[in-house]
Amino acid sequence: MESLRRETIGNGPGAVIAALESGALFPKEVVVAAGRIVEFQGPLFPEEELALRNASLKRRLEFAAGRHLARKAMTSFGVDNCAISMRADRTPVWPDGIAGSISHSGEVCAAVVTKKGDLMSIGLDVEFAPIEGEHLERYVSTSDELVLASEILKDDGLALRIIFSAKEAFFKAWYPIFGSFLDFHDVRVRFGSPAIDVACRRSLHFDLPNWRKPLQYRFDGRWEAVGGGVLAGVVCYKQ
Ligand SMILES: CC(C)(COP(=O)(O)OP(=O)(O)OC[C@H]1O[C@@H](n2cnc3c(N)ncnc32)[C@H](O)[C@@H]1OP(=O)(O)O)[C@@H](O)C(=O)NCCC(=O)NCCS
Repeated sequence: MESLRRETIGNGPGAVIAALESGALFPKEVVVAAGRIVEFQGPLFPEEELALRNASLKRRLEFAAGRHLARKAMTSFGVDNCAISMRADRTPVWPDGIAGSISHSGEVCAAVVTKKGDLMSIGLDVEFAPIEGEHLERYVSTSDELVLASEILKDDGLALRIIFSAKEAFFKAWYPIFGSFLDFHDVRVRFGSPAIDVACRRSLHFDLPNWRKPLQYRFDGRWEAVGGGVLAGVVCYKQ
């Protein structure tokens, strides 16, 4: 993994957008487009409008921002102005040869896209709100997973938020390939060693302890905590 650049200045959504746009969450073959939801609005394709029947205004705005940002990112691969409809399972229908992921949280939306090759699938998660709920730690992580993460990050709350975000991003990269749902305990997150450099400290690795078949794919990721938000990016390579 390449070393991460930290060029983010300030706080809140602006800092989160800058961190996303720096490209530090993903390898260089992934293109990121990020912005404030209100700034990426405009007409949608009729097949996209179908996904918004009975949608609330909030849902309409976040959906539209995701589509406009994804189209912006795809221009880097010569894909101009194409519809990204939504399947019944809520996954976006990317154009042939393209893999992508969308996330929205608070005022921020981001889309990441890449041309499929060895890199088969990508997942992005942006989380602003602190995660809340009874017994959340046990629901999201195993205790040894959380202990190890807390040792590395020196912050239990942050460790839990990053584990949560990393698993959401993992699921988004997983689902387009395997098409199956996963429980939070199906996936184990390992953080890079703190003894090495900053790039390694921010890297994530994933194991599926109960997966019995040979896994022909490798999942890696990176995380960032900035501007009150946490971000996770996951890439899946064919081995
Ligand atoms: C799909 C899911 C991960 C979305 O995460 P979220 O924090 O609620 O919302 P985000 O804004 O980050 O992401 C929403 C986007 O994810 C994408 N998405 C939805 N379902 C998806 C799926 N099955 N696979 C990949 N991407 C999906 C969509 O693009 C959606 O935005 P859109 O509807 O505007 O196009 C979440 O709702 C979910 O179903 N989680 C259960 C599975 C899970 O997390 N298991 C444990 C971890 S292994």
